[in-house]
Amino acid sequence: MKWFRSIMMPPRGSEYAGQVDDTYFLIFWISTAFFFLVAGLTAYFAIKYRRRPGNDGPTPNITHHGGLEAAWTLLPVIPLMLIFVWGFHDFVDARVAPGNALEIKVVAKKWLWAFEYPSGVRAINEIHVPAGRPIRMVMISEDVIHSFFVPTFRIKQDVLPNRYTDLWFEADELGEHVLFCTEYCGKGHSDMMGKITVDSPADFDEWLETGGDLGKDLPPAEFGKILFRIRGCYTCHSLDGSVVEGPSFKGSFGTERKLKGGGTVVMDENYILESLMKPQAKIVTGYPSTMSTFQGLLKEREINALIAMIKELK
Ligand code: CUA
Repeated sequence: MKWFRSIMMPPRGSEYAGQVDDTYFLIFWISTAFFFLVAGLTAYFAIKYRRRPGNDGPTPNITHHGGLEAAWTLLPVIPLMLIFVWGFHDFVDARVAPGNALEIKVVAKKWLWAFEYPSGVRAINEIHVPAGRPIRMVMISEDVIHSFFVPTFRIKQDVLPNRYTDLWFEADELGEHVLFCTEYCGKGHSDMMGKITVDSPADFDEWLETGGDLGKDLPPAEFGKILFRIRGCYTCHSLDGSVVEGPSFKGSFGTERKLKGGGTVVMDENYILESLMKPQAKIVTGYPSTMSTFQGLLKEREINALIAMIKELK
């Protein structure tokens, strides 16, 4: 039945995925059996008690059968309780992370996933985890409700503003897993994807040491373009002069911009920095003030890269 399972479910990336699948298929096959039982009996009785010539009188008064009714009420309780106990057992497994779990903080915001390891290493959208070790995600949202979903691990949890939620997983095999946002959160929702790479413990340690240096081999402006993409800037800003929601960056560096409520500002390094840290401080007239802060989410090196990118867009 492996082929059947592979049609119904994504590959299994963790032991827990197997537990979920087992419960799912238990319910699936019980439902399938009852479907054929009910549909079969319906067809059988429809034929058996069909209207026949010469049998046109009124239906006799049939009352009920107490024993039969008690049986079809009480007997299903047995499989239902079995499903409940089984499901609850797995649910508790899914909710309570082992004490030795590696804890990763997750911040969801429109429209990216930001991760922080206990060592202070930060990553956006793409993370590495060690194989064979439980990983606990402690998650919060900066804006609306998002939802953290890794199909191959069979784990899913809403990520809320103003309240921490958590989930955990343990992957034993090396490989890559796709992470989705599965709660509609606005225009960039379908771009809010990520990648979880399961490394051997040695590779993971190496990644932890260098992983914070995203884009270290690139010229700043090129690195800026990557950040523009993975940080989701593109959902509101363009690089080609077209207006998405916020102003385009094309040819903007060094120009004077009119501000909402009067006054002007020169688009220079400091204005870019201020707009990243305090986006509401100076809004260019004609645009909504919908941007949220990148405080704590961008390194100096990354801010420099974004500035370098904007400078180059003549
Ligand atoms: Cu975040 Cu959908």
